[in-house]
Amino acid sequence: MMTFQQQVAEGIPAQLPAAKPYPQDANRAPKRKDVLSVAEKQLAIRNALRYFPSAWHAELAAEFAQELNDFGRIYMYRFKPDYAIKARPISEYPAKCQQAAAIMLMIDNNLDPAVAQHPEELITYGGNGAVFQNWAQYRLTMHYLCEMEADQTLHMYSGHPMGLFPSSPEAPRVVVTNGMMIPNYSKPDDWERFNALGVTQYGQMTAGSYMYIGPQGIVHGTTITVMNAFRKVLAKGDTPKGKIFLTAGLGGMSGAQPKAGNIANCITVCAEVNAKAAIKRHQQGWVDELIDSLPALIARVKQAQAQHEVVSIAYIGNVVDVWEAFDEHDIFVHLGSDQTSLHNPWSGGYYPVGVSYDEANRLIRDEPELFKAKVQDTLKRHAAIVNKHTAKGTYFFDYGNAFLLEASRAGGEVMANNGIDFKYPSYVQDILGPMCFDYGFGPFRWVCTSGDPADLDKTDAIAAQVLQRIMREAPDEIQQQMQDNITWILDAKQNKLVVGSQARILYADAQGRAEIAQAFNDAIARGEIGPVVLGRDHHDVSGTDSPYRETSNIYDGSRFTADMAIHNVIGDSFRGATWVSIHNGGGVGWGEVINGGFGMLLDGSAEAERRLRSMLFFDVNNGIARRSWARNSEANFAIQREMARTPKLKVTLANQVADDIIAQLPLV
Ligand SMILES: NC(=O)c1ccc[n+]([C@@H]2O[C@H](COP(=O)([O-])OP(=O)(O)OC[C@H]3O[C@@H](n4cnc5c(N)ncnc54)[C@H](O)[C@@H]3O)[C@@H](O)[C@H]2O)c1
Repeated sequence: MMTFQQQVAEGIPAQLPAAKPYPQDANRAPKRKDVLSVAEKQLAIRNALRYFPSAWHAELAAEFAQELNDFGRIYMYRFKPDYAIKARPISEYPAKCQQAAAIMLMIDNNLDPAVAQHPEELITYGGNGAVFQNWAQYRLTMHYLCEMEADQTLHMYSGHPMGLFPSSPEAPRVVVTNGMMIPNYSKPDDWERFNALGVTQYGQMTAGSYMYIGPQGIVHGTTITVMNAFRKVLAKGDTPKGKIFLTAGLGGMSGAQPKAGNIANCITVCAEVNAKAAIKRHQQGWVDELIDSLPALIARVKQAQAQHEVVSIAYIGNVVDVWEAFDEHDIFVHLGSDQTSLHNPWSGGYYPVGVSYDEANRLIRDEPELFKAKVQDTLKRHAAIVNKHTAKGTYFFDYGNAFLLEASRAGGEVMANNGIDFKYPSYVQDILGPMCFDYGFGPFRWVCTSGDPADLDKTDAIAAQVLQRIMREAPDEIQQQMQDNITWILDAKQNKLVVGSQARILYADAQGRAEIAQAFNDAIARGEIGPVVLGRDHHDVSGTDSPYRETSNIYDGSRFTADMAIHNVIGDSFRGATWVSIHNGGGVGWGEVINGGFGMLLDGSAEAERRLRSMLFFDVNNGIARRSWARNSEANFAIQREMARTPKLKVTLANQVADDIIAQLPLV
């Protein structure tokens, strides 16, 4: 019997392992589209066999052909290791350098069945967010990380470990690219084809960069969004208690909405057509009550309003029915949004009204054109009823799920008078962009590599102290953000958000991130806590160029460029990141976004201190500088403040032009 350490280090095994049955209780990834010609399928199998000695080829070729036929991809199930995959304490990984051990820990966390959505297919979240394309890549990568010394770098090509290259101790230990394509080959069907061939993958944001930490990241971002949306609509001093937030979706990310609504102290009504998804969220304690009839929902909501309750209610059914019923019964909705998966409208991301869930799924399979027509009709009806509510005063925002885009394509009335913009803002345009990203606040996170919950408690306390200290000197412009983040970190433990590794997310700005990290490094040096991995979601100030989401509040025309994300990953890589990543696709789809991130191990050394200071500074201020150049006034404020305290920072500032100079130009 091999030990865990021997198995991790083994790589491609010396003996062909026996084929294994598919685990019964696993949540299997959906079958992928069958897009390859016979010649391309031969190429895909030839590609897969590159990982193995020729003596195994005949047997494996037949098995991989079967996987390709049955699932549309070759996952190499037989090569999944026998040990339990989960984040283990860093000391258990058989590495020659601690940075490599930290990366192994993070990879394992992203494939832990308690964390990952389809762990057998190496998918962490979002339906297609892959850590690797197949189990041979996992095995080889772990093998290389065991071998790696502090002056080598492992280059990862969309899950494939190209190999260890000599570098230097200052260089990142791992460089990750996912889905990087020649731009003309970056349409969704290109992903199907090249992923099936085994030459690229969809890394989402944090899956393919080993930085996913379970659902708490989404809960924090959603809480900030809901709280600030209420602030926009309520009179000063009024509270969200007894006021309604109406939305849809209890899936992967959308399932965070009721929990966030509870933390923000409102009544959340969240419609979900898939009863299984709603029941799962209820059992997990993420939504308080389940209701499956409209009359019961109306009665319950009126009672909650009258009693100023804080409660979250899942309605099992179509969200359009809820909007219409609330209009009919005169129930005022303070906040409205939607988190159905409209980035994927024709294959189950959005369900048409008036058709049962099972019947809709039959239509997707047997009558896709009819299904599409019904979705388009529903989108028009959805837009019309939202318009009726907003005419009464509801504040509606798009949750980055392409609701407005698809509603407009279906002919729904969601365009502004100028015919270019939408009638309603996105959550980034109105909330996260100006209130958070432009000031540098974003989803900073950390993982305690000892695996000890006591370490997480200590880091929570350290982070709270640092923020409280910074807040005393902070300008008025960011007092609210500081206070929200202090409240979040003080309540984080009792909100029970940890799934998998001992991790925490906390929105912080450049100063906050660096000072928290510095305080962690000092605590590690004093032996109070074990080493800590720092990182962030890619959904941040500087990491992501995504014209309909992270950079939707950039109005100088540059939101369709991706220079910022590329500068970020290059800049982070020579300022001390332990690993860096850059991806095509994530959240809004393949070809629609370029996003990157980093991981950094703090080990208590002076070298770690130098790295964190240099890299975290750039990682945030790069994006603030770009947002300021785009004439965003909050970012202009933030970068000027940063230049005042950092003499070596010299950023090009934008001059504002008076509107009348432009307006009177004789342009033709
Ligand atoms: N939470 C965030 O921070 C965030 C940020 C940006 C974008 N998004 C977007 O939100 C969307 C949802 O993400 P997810 O991971 O939850 O997807 P998901 O597919 O897991 O969940 C969506 C849910 O909506 C349900 N649904 C579909 N049509 C419905 C209808 N008409 N009425 C009621 N329920 C319906 C589906 O059954 C499904 O359970 C995605 O497009 C994602 O990109 C989320």
